[in-house]
Amino acid sequence: MSLQSVSIGRKENMEKVIEVRGLVKRFGDKAAVNGVDLDVYKGEMFAFLGPNGAGKTTTVRVLSTLTGFDEGTVIVDGHDIKKHPDEAKTRIGVIQQHISLDKDLTVWENMMQHTMYHKIPKSERQSRIDELVEYVGLGEYTDYMVSDLSGGWKKRVSIVCALLHKPKILFLDEPTAGLDIQARRMLWDLIRRLNMDGTTTFLTTHYIEEAEALCHRVGIINKGRIIAMGTPQELTDRIVKVAVEYFDSSGVTKYNYFKDRESANAYATTLTAQDRVVIRKTSLEDCFVELTGTTVGGM
Ligand SMILES: Nc1ncnc2c1ncn2[C@@H]1O[C@H](COP(=O)(O)OP(=O)(O)OP(=O)(O)O)[C@@H](O)[C@H]1O
Ligand SMILES: [Mg+2]
Repeated sequence: MSLQSVSIGRKENMEKVIEVRGLVKRFGDKAAVNGVDLDVYKGEMFAFLGPNGAGKTTTVRVLSTLTGFDEGTVIVDGHDIKKHPDEAKTRIGVIQQHISLDKDLTVWENMMQHTMYHKIPKSERQSRIDELVEYVGLGEYTDYMVSDLSGGWKKRVSIVCALLHKPKILFLDEPTAGLDIQARRMLWDLIRRLNMDGTTTFLTTHYIEEAEALCHRVGIINKGRIIAMGTPQELTDRIVKVAVEYFDSSGVTKYNYFKDRESANAYATTLTAQDRVVIRKTSLEDCFVELTGTTVGGM
């Protein structure tokens, strides 16, 4: 089943659906988002990758009109969100980092509430719910209380709620955080399918492998600024090819990068016998470490 027209990849169609220029969002004196410029293209699967406190959620909340901002412009599907927030809102679905469902209602009741919130005509409400319930495989759970569902199924309910008004752009703020590997992979399949069926997808993540597995393009964000942008391959290629990773005698992980295996091997021989050494190809994580000086989950 396809929810929307067939997907068009970024390379074939460079129509911008999100344009952000000079975005600043402050909390008191502190800029959580500090001058972000960003384009997202129709049909694209884009990810924000960044450590805790980088500004991912704040950016998503601004772009999805859940909160205001201090400077800059944001255009969503041709609509300036400051001037025409209601036009922008109809184009956007958002799955927030923390589940925003009503736990005291059933799955179906939550979905029905969302159809009312989005002013979907009464005659269409049930059929929209049915279509999406089937799409995400929630069939047997519609009468469950939300509080009785596991994290992965709650996320699916959130996805249905976010899609009921047929948005063109779906924001997913850390969609798989805290889920076990099986639930994460099932959600990846669903997110991939949604994107292939035509929904432009903007997700945030801590998980490098999630950005690599799902996304056409990744923006690395740190301290409110985008510090690198490109395909996972382009980002990985920014740094040299071979990584020497080792745990030093105090248990701290260290990374060093080399242009070839020979120089990596030569460096590895200088390490002490107690160091546990791994020599491997560089990855997106290395790019992240090199740029931010921290691992993604690091503080
Ligand atoms: N409502 C708020 N009031 C004050 N400061 C805030 C508020 N929301 C976020 N911040 C601050 O803004 C910065 C960016 O936070 P944000 O939640 O956007 O980061 P994040 O990248 O989503 O982090 P995480 O990976 O932990 O979800 C942090 O320093 C945070 O403490
Ligand atoms: Mg966040």
